[in-house]
Amino acid sequence: MYPRTMWARRLFVLLLSACGDDAGQADGGLINGCPSLTAPQATPGEPIDGDTFATFAGPLLQQYCTRCHSSTLTGAARNGAPVGFNWNDEASVRTHLIEMRNAIGVANFMPPSAPRPSCAERQRLVRWIDAAAP
Ligand code: HEC
Repeated sequence: MYPRTMWARRLFVLLLSACGDDAGQADGGLINGCPSLTAPQATPGEPIDGDTFATFAGPLLQQYCTRCHSSTLTGAARNGAPVGFNWNDEASVRTHLIEMRNAIGVANFMPPSAPRPSCAERQRLVRWIDAAAP
């Protein structure tokens, strides 16, 4: 089910985090052209400029992810996105926040094709997750 390259990238991240995960470190270097945000980008409950699921995370996921990860898509139309990983569904997003944080902000392997979010957009989504996803 998982392409070999995906596992290779995840293994790489595991190895990275195994060697010296300094507390307070801003990031773990660049992966796929963007900082690997291993360190927390916010504390739970932080205001994060008013970002919420409705005003920020939902629209961002709609822009970059729901062409594959949507409850309206089945079979081949999902392009391999796992069943139940539907980012048009807030409950599904909240169930998968940990995997999402890794996929978009640490290992940076999502989305697998263009259009891709900018590094700033990735950081902002991770900040939203780390602020406890308001
Ligand atoms: C072109 C289709 C496509 C788009 C667009 C896409 N994904 Fe995926 N996604 C996949 C496929 C295929 C998999 C399964 C392969 C894998 O897990 O490595 C997957 C798996 C995932 C997983 C599970 C990974 C894991 O840990 O097992 C997460 C989380 C995820 N995607 C998040 C996102 C986010 C967030 C976006 C938007 C920023 C996004 N994806 C955009 C196709 C897509």
